[in-house]
Amino acid sequence: MPQLNPFVFNRPVSADGLIDRDEETEQMLHLAEGGHAVRLSAPRRYGKTSLLRRLGEEADKAGMHYVEVDFYGVLSRVEVAGRLEEGYAKLRPAPQRIARAVIQTLRPALSVGAAGVRVEAHPQLEEQVGRRLSGLLDLPLQLYERTGKRTLVAFDEFQALLSVDDGIDGLFRSRIQRHGDAASYVFAGSHPGLMAHLFGAHERPFFGQARSLPLAPLADGDIVEHVGERFAATGREVGRTIEPLLDLAAGHPQRAMLLAHHLWERTPDRGVAEADHWQAALRDTFSEQDDALRATWDSLEVKERAVYTALAVGAPIFGVRTLERFNLSKGGAQHARKALAQVGHIQRSGDVWLPVDPLLARWVIDFQHNGGEDPFR
Ligand SMILES: Nc1ncnc2c1ncn2[C@@H]1O[C@H](COP(=O)(O)OP(=O)(O)OP(=O)(O)O)[C@@H](O)[C@H]1O
Ligand SMILES: [Mg+2]
Repeated sequence: MPQLNPFVFNRPVSADGLIDRDEETEQMLHLAEGGHAVRLSAPRRYGKTSLLRRLGEEADKAGMHYVEVDFYGVLSRVEVAGRLEEGYAKLRPAPQRIARAVIQTLRPALSVGAAGVRVEAHPQLEEQVGRRLSGLLDLPLQLYERTGKRTLVAFDEFQALLSVDDGIDGLFRSRIQRHGDAASYVFAGSHPGLMAHLFGAHERPFFGQARSLPLAPLADGDIVEHVGERFAATGREVGRTIEPLLDLAAGHPQRAMLLAHHLWERTPDRGVAEADHWQAALRDTFSEQDDALRATWDSLEVKERAVYTALAVGAPIFGVRTLERFNLSKGGAQHARKALAQVGHIQRSGDVWLPVDPLLARWVIDFQHNGGEDPFR
């Protein structure tokens, strides 16, 4: 039977597919058991959702209920309520029955209109939605009352709430703060600017309300072990090609798995990955990702592209030659760097700013920037 490619890169991975993150899981579980809130902030595709799933399994073993709610793309309070209901629908059967019974009582009152069409009976729709939302947010109280167990609630893509309305985080906070022993919360998000706005701005309800837990890039040694084992378990050998893979991935979890996926695909059954296979895998990766990389690039302002390019080639962005080359002022460069950091395209590592996505950085150097020649040096 042909082997299946063991490298998943386009959806959250299960606990056994997760490289490392033991400490983070343990720390989050510990904080949750103590009733503390955690804010999991990491760049896009760093494994936040996968880590939440693993935390959910551990929480379950530790005797907590686990509810995961994904707010990606929500635009209204009704949608937020819908996402909360979806989250509670995945509870284990016994607590799910309790939650379902409460949810039934929160559904808007409906009546049959003259033409047999269902219409909202309540005139104060807004008030009704607000009450439903409060009731859904308070579900951990009911679960605690009935089962005596704490619920760990993970809000994924929490920053999306900011697209709903200005008062929604206030509503969340006002309910959540009364949950005491009934619930603990994890807030995950990938947009540094919006997460900072929610948790770091004095005037926002969640200011200083959660312990921050960053996710670091993966260690090369952990990637080597994981990739080597998965090649071996499927009858292939990764050999020396792991080196250029590590160099390019630079610890980015999803990029490492994407490259491993294509390298495995190009490696012959029962064979060893050679330099030619690596080159072919690189071509596959870039041709597959080209549209997405181009779309990201096109979404940047001209000055942001200039600063990104300078950071990708390792040039000092405030250096005279860089500023001249891109017709930038120091202020302009600073502003563009801030904007890139806010949306999560670059992040600070010690004293330096680096591109988050090593593939975008390589693509910019190879395809946008004079075929890789560095005119800054
Ligand atoms: N620790 C890890 N070990 C192995 N693979 C990982 C790890 N973290 C992330 N990945 C890879 O990254 C991909 C995306 O993971 P996941 O969806 O959990 O990330 P995310 O941060 O939630 O992404 P997004 O920002 O798109 O929501 C996975 O398919 C997997 O290939
Ligand atoms: Mg995610």
